[in-house]
Formats: sequence, structure tokens, C-alpha cells
Amino acid sequence: MTTTELLVSKTDLAVTRVRQTPAAPLQSGQARARVDRFALTSNNITYAAFGDAMHYWDFFPVQGDDAQGWGSVPVWGFGTVVESACAEVPVGERVYGYWPMASHAVLTPARVTPSGWIDGAAHRAPLPPIYNQYERSSADPFYRADTEDLQALLRPLFATSWLIDDFMADSDFFGARTLLLSSASSKTAYATAWCLAQRAGIEVIGLTSPANVAFCESLGCYSRVLTYEALASLDGDTPSVYIDFAGNAGLRRRIHEHFPNLRYSCSVGGAHVRELGGAKGLPGPRATLFFAPAQAKKRAGEWGAATLVQRLVDDWTSFVTAAADKGWVQVAHSEDPAAAQAAWAQVLAGGNDPRSGQIVRLA
Ligand SMILES: NC(=O)c1ccc[n+]([C@@H]2O[C@H](COP(=O)([O-])OP(=O)(O)OC[C@H]3O[C@@H](n4cnc5c(N)ncnc54)[C@H](OP(=O)(O)O)[C@@H]3O)[C@@H](O)[C@H]2O)c1
Repeated sequence: MTTTELLVSKTDLAVTRVRQTPAAPLQSGQARARVDRFALTSNNITYAAFGDAMHYWDFFPVQGDDAQGWGSVPVWGFGTVVESACAEVPVGERVYGYWPMASHAVLTPARVTPSGWIDGAAHRAPLPPIYNQYERSSADPFYRADTEDLQALLRPLFATSWLIDDFMADSDFFGARTLLLSSASSKTAYATAWCLAQRAGIEVIGLTSPANVAFCESLGCYSRVLTYEALASLDGDTPSVYIDFAGNAGLRRRIHEHFPNLRYSCSVGGAHVRELGGAKGLPGPRATLFFAPAQAKKRAGEWGAATLVQRLVDDWTSFVTAAADKGWVQVAHSEDPAAAQAAWAQVLAGGNDPRSGQIVRLA
């Protein structure tokens, strides 16, 4: 058996390489999964951009003499166990989780339950547990066999969006009723806007590039959509919250300067990967990184884990149904290494139709 990997240069994310190596024999307790499909969105580019700082390169360390300088970017999707040296994990089992951009992955299932397991490999122990979890599709309340592409593309993003919405409501929107979302055309931003739009009395303003205004308006979940350039036309005295998916340092500064009543500045993403920068010396509130697991943990404590999951599943089901019915995502499949390299290059470059949803298979 051969493993095909799509590797990315850690120093130049535009440089990729396909490597094919013979699969190593499994050790006792390990299982080999074929990665059947994974999604590529800006989220994965951000993983690479913060690969060192936030340890995203550490999930699937590249092995071998020629590994120096190359990284394996984590992706979300579905795999099937094709070989197992772990008694509790049978061949044929289908799972959702975090994968390398590769045809296969070797995991060490631990804490196995009827609903799933974690990868107990030693190198993953220090990493956030949420990324180490593998859900058995046969017992997964989010799973539907006919929407695997949409699940791979939207599910991890929606969970973050839902928790942002919940965090904002839980904080009484920091006393504001106007929320500004950058990279409004990104899936994570519009899923957040979709959640916020279910609440009364909240104005959700989407900020985006000129080419993506019409798409954002068509979604129906933004109260208003403006280009980045039109920001100055907003009433700066309005108490507001900034939810930042773009990570654009210049834009962040303009928002902090234009809104002296900015009540909270929430850093979620870095879709504008060429415009990232620090937040030192900004007027107004400190730009604060959103940490989804903290809000999930708080709600699991308050509501109980089962209620948290049920609420999330209910809203996810409504959201993914709306996304499918209204054609918010047009799936493009890449099924060979060269196509996968092209898909990576395209997502990295940006400027794409925001409807596009890249699904890749290297197996
Ligand atoms: N912290 C978390 O837990 C978490 C979880 C999920 C996602 N996120 C973050 O949310 C952001 C959005 O992710 P996504 O996967 O939802 O994105 P996506 O759907 O792939 O977003 C596409 C949009 O992002 C902007 N964009 C993408 N590449 C660009 C480039 N090279 N230059 C300029 N603009 C670019 C454009 O929006 P505009 O024209 O509207 O700017 C584009 O329409 C990412 O930075 C991601 O890391 C964070």
C-alpha cells in the first residue's frame, strides 16, 4: 500500500509537493484510515499561516529524511478504517474528524466509546482535545450519508459560528446591538450571521470585498452589507462589536479608530492571509482571540453536554438545510494529486467565488 501526501512548504505556503511512500506496517493498537474526502477552505490556509505559532503543524508531523521544512496541513472530513490492529475499531468503520492532506492516516484509537474515540498518539496529547476526536458516523447525530461534502465543508466552521453567537448573546453583546463582521462572504462569517439573525433586535453588518457584496446580500442574514471602503459611511458613535474573520491589520485599525464606542473586538480568523498583523497600540478594546472550546466548556457545565450537543445539532440541521436548499455552496471535487495541488493554490490565492467549496480526495 502507498500513502500519498500533499505537503506544503512551511516558509512559502504557495509551494506544495506530492509525496508517495510505502505505508509502514501498523503497530499494536493502531488503525489505518483511508481519507475519503476532505474540505479545503480559508480555515485550512489559516492553520498553515499559524502552523508554528499555534502548533497546527504538530498534528500530523511529516516523517522521513526529506521532511525538513515541509508541513502537513490539517483538514476536516471523512475516513474509513481499512486496516486495524485495535480490537475496538473494526475495518469498515466510517469516521468524521481531523486528517492530514493525505490518502491515508495512521491513528492510535484511545478512550473508545460507541460514539467514537480520540487519537491517543503521544504527539497529539498536548494539542486541543477537540481536534483529536473521531466520531463514528453510525452514531453521529450530525451525520447524514447524503450530505458528506457539506458536512466536511461547513460542520467545523458552523460549530465555531454557533459558539460565537452564543458567546455574544451570553455576554449581552457587550451592551451593543450593532455587530460588524469582516470577510462576511466566508462560510464561518455567514454562518455566524445566520445564527445572529435568529435573534431579535440585533443589527448584523457584513463587510466584504466589492466582488462579494451581491453574494452576501443574497444570503439574507445580514441586515446590511458594505464594502471595506464604505466603512467610513457608518455612524461611528454607534456602540458596536467587531467580529473579525479577515484578520486584516489595516482594517482592524480603521474599525477601532472609526468606532470610539467599540465595546468588544473579537478575533476569529485570518482570511486575508497577506494582510495579517499585530494589534499593538490600537485604540479601544483589546483584540481578543475567540477560543471556541472555552465557550463549549462553559455551556456543557451549565446545560449539560447532552443539551449542548442537541441544541447545536438542531441549529446545524436547519443551517445545512438552508445552505443546501439555497445553493450557498457549490461543491468542486479534486480527485488526483495535481488537482489537489491546484485546489490548494486556488484557496490560498483568494479571489474565488465565495460559493465555491473544495472537496479533495487523494486516496
Ligand atoms: N478560531 C476558530 O476557531 C475558527 C474556526 C473556523 C474558521 N475560522 C476562521 O475564519 C476565517 C474564514 O474561514 P472560512 O473557511 O469560513 O473561509 P472561506 O469560506 O474559504 O472564505 C472565503 C472568503 O474569505 C476571504 N478571503 C479568502 N482568501 C482570501 C485572500 N487570499 N485574500 C483576501 N480575502 C480572502 C474572502 O472574503 P471577503 O471578500 O468577504 O473578505 C473570501 O470570499 C478563516 O481565517 C478561519 O481560520 C476560525
